[in-house]
Amino acid sequence: MPIVNRLAELHEEITAWRRDFHENPEILYETVRTAEKVAELLESFGVDEVTTGIGKTGVVGVIKGRNGGKGKTLGLRADMDALPIEEVTGKEYASKTPGKMHACGHDGHTAMLLGAAKYLAETRNFDGTVVLIFQPAEEGGAGAKAMIDDGLMTKWPIDEVYGMHNLPGTDVGTFSMRVGPIMAATDEFTVTIKGRGGHAARPYETIDPIVTGSQIVSALQSIASRTVDPLKSVVVSVTSFKAGNAYNVIPQDATLWGTIRTLDNEVRKIAEERFMTIVESVATAYGAVAEIDFKRGYPVVVNHEEQTHFAAEVAEAVGGAGSVDSNILPMMGGEDFAYMLEERPGAFIYTGNGDSAGLHHPLYDFNDDAILYGSSYWIKLVETALPHAS
Ligand code: NI
Repeated sequence: MPIVNRLAELHEEITAWRRDFHENPEILYETVRTAEKVAELLESFGVDEVTTGIGKTGVVGVIKGRNGGKGKTLGLRADMDALPIEEVTGKEYASKTPGKMHACGHDGHTAMLLGAAKYLAETRNFDGTVVLIFQPAEEGGAGAKAMIDDGLMTKWPIDEVYGMHNLPGTDVGTFSMRVGPIMAATDEFTVTIKGRGGHAARPYETIDPIVTGSQIVSALQSIASRTVDPLKSVVVSVTSFKAGNAYNVIPQDATLWGTIRTLDNEVRKIAEERFMTIVESVATAYGAVAEIDFKRGYPVVVNHEEQTHFAAEVAEAVGGAGSVDSNILPMMGGEDFAYMLEERPGAFIYTGNGDSAGLHHPLYDFNDDAILYGSSYWIKLVETALPHAS
């Protein structure tokens, strides 16, 4: 095919929605305006059902095929939330809200799914049901989980679920994916090392939380280098080390923060266990006490085999020969679509964003040329998975 012809006519309209979302970024669960606009547009397309307030500010739309919706139900998911970043793109549609911006392209994801919804509601060239999922709080708030906890998969009996994210540095019109783990589990920790403060010139009278913390940071490096099989992946990064505020004082305590990223549940478990043992034992060895706040974050994003092969075929039908890399290397970033893939079989894929700034960068912008390919992918996915028996 390549792209769906009707979409070329809708491109300008979809771009206008995208830029409107871009101008009005909302973070986490605060996506009230965005959700309202999504719901209004869905209503205006004449979809069969629109439900708001799922997972706080999530929106669900339903489009039934020509056979009245009987048969299989596909869930298509877009995320709506922005990031707490100050935009510096200088675009005419740049964020009007200081300190917030769409730096991950969720404005584009939402617009592309709306574009597909408009087309699908108009043409209904399929048998079965499409559930359009617009979720809040992908960026650290587990909005996908909140929607699932509100009954997303059962109120609308979704059989398979699909997600898509733009990928800077890959050409517009290309797609990539892989079977199995594609993005990492993201766990976070805060460690408070309780020592005993005192005069810097009399360290023997203190329990130095800085020396203890330094040993902990060093010892944690052994999780990747000496605990986990080198052919498996783990990242342990300490990203903050705060202690003290004077040249001549050994402080009472120190705080470490960081993240652990893994691509399989067994490694995730081992890494957490080793982390606990190392932190507690090293602190004890130095006479200090470590208080650990370990937060298990998003699970590993694991693509299901059959649905991923199917997604690759659909993507190639849209992008043309050579447009699909179906065995991209996994990335150590996280994505809460993982929760949806734990509930139902499906696939998470990337679509090229061209030579843009990276995700979460203040110069990042979603590439409007990618809209045609992303929306076409959604449409083709539906029409191929749920063919209309004419
Ligand atoms: Ni994102």
